[in-house]
Amino acid sequence: MSFAVAVDGPAAAGKGTIAQAIAEHFDFQYLDTGLLYRAVGLAHLHGFKNLQKVAQKLDQQSLMHPMLRTPAVSKAASEVAKIAEVRAALVNFQREFIKRSKGAVLDGRDISTVICPNADVKLYVFANQKIRAKRRQMELKNRGISVDLKKVQNDLRMRDDVDMKRVEAPLQIASDSIRLDTSTLSVKAANQQAIEIVNQKLNTKSI
Ligand code: CDP
Repeated sequence: MSFAVAVDGPAAAGKGTIAQAIAEHFDFQYLDTGLLYRAVGLAHLHGFKNLQKVAQKLDQQSLMHPMLRTPAVSKAASEVAKIAEVRAALVNFQREFIKRSKGAVLDGRDISTVICPNADVKLYVFANQKIRAKRRQMELKNRGISVDLKKVQNDLRMRDDVDMKRVEAPLQIASDSIRLDTSTLSVKAANQQAIEIVNQKLNTKSI
């Protein structure tokens, strides 16, 4: 039986960093589910019309495209993520990933609520918006993309708004999620807290 860790939260809150640290520490498989929506968003920007089909045909290769982290693709991902058929087409990919792993960590928006409501650990990772904007600006800078802080913050605000207000699988805090505010935490401290939470749960469940 697989052990599942769901990590949800708003844009640029540090979900990916924490999810990867958990996966590395416990030797679990990691899936960044945002990449699935980003890949469909990129296809949309490239003019593909049948996005349900694009979503059904995604493979590991399509999740490695160098453009996936650009601001334009972030916005497109959030737009296509509203489409019920696209979301439905991606459910199996994510559930199969969990099923075939001894331990799996997935980060996204609806992992705790829709994809894996029975996850062993549910984390809701968040941070104040200005701090998230600064982190995302730095991340983009490290990728060679220079964007004004105000624009980054505005993009995050708009995307959070779309992600929280959409009808299909909106970003919500599950009632049994543990909240992790990373606003004032170093990467190391945030990772340690998350690992400790998973560790406590693992100690009460043998895999
Ligand atoms: O890295 P960041 O938090 O900025 O975004 P991401 O996790 O890569 O997700 C990009 C977009 O995909 C989000 O703004 C959501 O609209 C969508 N998404 C979703 O709807 N459901 C998920 N499980 C993951 C991402």
